[in-house]
Amino acid sequence: MKIMVIVAHPQLNNSRANRAFMLELGNRPDIHVRDLYQEYPNWEIDVEKEQRLLLQYDRIVLQFPLFWYSCPPLLKKWFDDVFTHGWAFGPGGDNLEGKEFMITTTVGGTENQYRSGGFNKFTISELLRPLQRTIARCNGSYLPAFVAYNANAGSDAYLDREAEKYAEHILAPMLELVQ
Ligand SMILES: Cc1cc2nc3c(=O)[nH]c(=O)nc-3n(C[C@H](O)[C@H](O)[C@H](O)COP(=O)(O)O)c2cc1C
Repeated sequence: MKIMVIVAHPQLNNSRANRAFMLELGNRPDIHVRDLYQEYPNWEIDVEKEQRLLLQYDRIVLQFPLFWYSCPPLLKKWFDDVFTHGWAFGPGGDNLEGKEFMITTTVGGTENQYRSGGFNKFTISELLRPLQRTIARCNGSYLPAFVAYNANAGSDAYLDREAEKYAEHILAPMLELVQ
């Protein structure tokens, strides 16, 4: 299975969690990791290139720090630009059919805060629904997300452990993830 990871973090030089995750993936040469903000400093996304790459991979992982309960803006733009009518949906838009998508997000809050009745009221699964629906609308398979809580307060050792779990998660077969 060919896996591409698209990392969207506007300040990777100040990152601990996402950088630790990228370092871990660096040990796995079979996974293609990309840095979206580095590739597109002017935010001019090369739509043809992105669509070509999407066709080449079986599983696409979108990795980002949660910003205001959502993804950083360049990743939103990536969806807006790349998932076009006639390519990703609509007549002839069947290119993403059956492709596996997975979200990985690092969050400042704790797991207890992300539940009904907790500080943030909603689970991360609930908050990721616009992305889930976008992928489903384009007939992609939306796989369970990997969420790293407490990303700011957690120690380096904790983030390293999360990074290992993350790598296992994105390498796991679909059936293992959904059951
Ligand atoms: C603009 C901004 C918005 C954020 N919004 C949230 C949020 O809605 N919920 C949350 O739990 N953490 C939020 N955070 C914390 C980040 O998710 C956290 O710093 C990040 O996941 C840590 O990863 P990093 O070390 O790779 O930067 C926010 C941080 C910034 C800078």
